[in-house]
Amino acid sequence: MAMLLVGGLSLLMKRWWLRRRLWCRCDVCHKYATAGWAAEFDNLCDWYTQLLRRSSTHTIHVHVLGNTITANPANVEQMLSGRFDNYPKGKPFSSILGDFLGKGIFNVDGAHWVFQRKMALMELGSVSMRSYAIQIVSGEVRHRLLPLLASVSGDGALDIQDIFRRFSFDCICRISFGLDPACLELSLPISEFATAFDRASSLSASRAAATYPGVWRLKRLLNLGSEKELRRCIRLIDVLAKEVIRQRRKVGFLSGEDLLSRFMGSVDDESYLRDIIVSFLLAGRDTVSSALTSFFLLLDKYPAVDRAIVEETHRVMGHGNGDSVPTYGHLWDMHYLHAALYESMRLYPPVQFDSKFAVTTTCSPTGRRLGADCMEFKPERWLAADGSFSPQNPYKYPVFQAGMRGCLGKEIALMEMKCVVASVLRGFRLDPLHRGRSPKFSPGLTASLAGGLPVRVVRRNAFCS
Ligand code: HEM
Repeated sequence: MAMLLVGGLSLLMKRWWLRRRLWCRCDVCHKYATAGWAAEFDNLCDWYTQLLRRSSTHTIHVHVLGNTITANPANVEQMLSGRFDNYPKGKPFSSILGDFLGKGIFNVDGAHWVFQRKMALMELGSVSMRSYAIQIVSGEVRHRLLPLLASVSGDGALDIQDIFRRFSFDCICRISFGLDPACLELSLPISEFATAFDRASSLSASRAAATYPGVWRLKRLLNLGSEKELRRCIRLIDVLAKEVIRQRRKVGFLSGEDLLSRFMGSVDDESYLRDIIVSFLLAGRDTVSSALTSFFLLLDKYPAVDRAIVEETHRVMGHGNGDSVPTYGHLWDMHYLHAALYESMRLYPPVQFDSKFAVTTTCSPTGRRLGADCMEFKPERWLAADGSFSPQNPYKYPVFQAGMRGCLGKEIALMEMKCVVASVLRGFRLDPLHRGRSPKFSPGLTASLAGGLPVRVVRRNAFCS
C-alpha cells in the first residue's frame, strides 16, 4: 500500500548529501541497506507506510540516505507553502534527474521554474484550454478507446495499463504539442520510444534510491551497466523530442494554440525545448495511466463502488447505449465518481515519492491520530451530506502536491479520468486475470504495476441491464 494511506504524501526532505551517514546501525537503515524490508513487503512504500503509521510524529529518518520522510500535514504544509524557500528541489535532486529531465519544470528552481510555471499556467489554467482538452479526450475515448475494447471483448485479454499509457500519451501529445501520435490505433507492441521513456524513468529513480551514490556516478563516468543503458534510452528520447519540435515547426507554431507553440514563441534553444517536452510527457502520460490502472484494480475488489458509479452515469447521462461518452457538463455532475477517483489516488498515489532539499532542517514534532478505516476504499468519505464532493485540506492530501508548486494539470487530469471511467464502465467490465494478487510496483518516478494489469474485457450489457 502506498504511503498516502496514512493521510498525506510522504515528502522526502533531502539533506545535503555530504551530511548523509555512510554507515548506521539503526534498524531502519540496516533494513534499507540490506533490502531486508523486501522479506515482509512487496513495495518500499508499503514498508515506509507501516513505519510512518507506527511513528508518533508520522515522520521517520533513513540516515544512510540523509532523508527525512514525513506524512505529517503540518510538515507538509511548512515545506510546500509556509517555508517554501527553505525547501527547493535542490542540487542533489537535479543532478540525479538532470540527464533525463534536464532543465524541465520538475527539475529546476528559481528563474527557470518561474518562467515555465507562468507559461504553463497561462495555457493549462485557461477555460478555452479545458474545453479544447475535453474535446480531444472525448474524441480519443469515442473513436479509439471504446472501439478497441469492443474489438477484444469476449475472448481476448489485454494489458489495460499498456492501453491507458497509449491513451494518455495520445491525449497529452495532442493537448500539449498539437500533434497526434495515434498510439491507440495500433494493435502493435508498445513503441521503442515508450519503452525507452519507462526505462529512463526507472533508472533515474534507482539513482535516488542508491545507498552509495558514488557507484552510479562512477558507472556514469565509465559508461557502464545501468548508466550505459540510461544514456541509450535518453538518446532515443532526444530523437523523439527533436521530431516533435520539427513537426511543430513544419505545421507552424505562431498560430498554434498548444503549450509547445507558446513556449516556441519565446524559446529558441532546442535543448531547452527538449527538456520542456520530456517534462510534459512525464506529467501527463504516466500519472494519468497510473491512476486509471490502480482505479480499475481497486474497482474489481469493490463491486458496490462499481455499481454506484454506473448508477450515477445513468442518472446524469440517461441510460442510452453502452458507447455514449459524457459531456463536460455531465462530468461536472458526477460527484460520486470524482470522490471514488480521489479515494483511489489516496490509496495508490501516482507520484509516490516527492523530494525536497532542506536548506535548514525544520521538522514539526506534532503527532495526530489516523482514522481507523484509513486502509479502506471508501469514496463516501469525500462526500458531504447532500452528496456533493467535499475536498480536504490539500496538505493532508497532496496527491497533486499543494501550495506554490501544486500540479497545473489537476483539472484536466480529473476530467480525463472521469471521462474514461464513466465511458468504459457503461459499456464494459474489466476483469483482472490474476485476481487477489497484491499490487507490486516497478521502481520509477511514477507508480506503475510490475507486469502490467492483464484483464479480460466483458461487454457489460450481456450481464446486467
Ligand atoms: C492523476 C494525474 C496527475 C497527478 C497525480 C499529478 C501530480 C503532480 C504532482 C505530485 C506534482 C508535483 C511534482 C513535483 O514537484 O515533484 C505535479 C506537478 C505538475 N503537474 Fe501534475 N499530476 C497529474 C497530471 C498532470 C497533467 C495531465 C498535467 C499536464 C497537462 C500536469 C502538469 C503538471 C505540471 C506542469 C507540474 C509542475 C508544477 C510546478 O513545478 O510548478 N499534471 N503533478
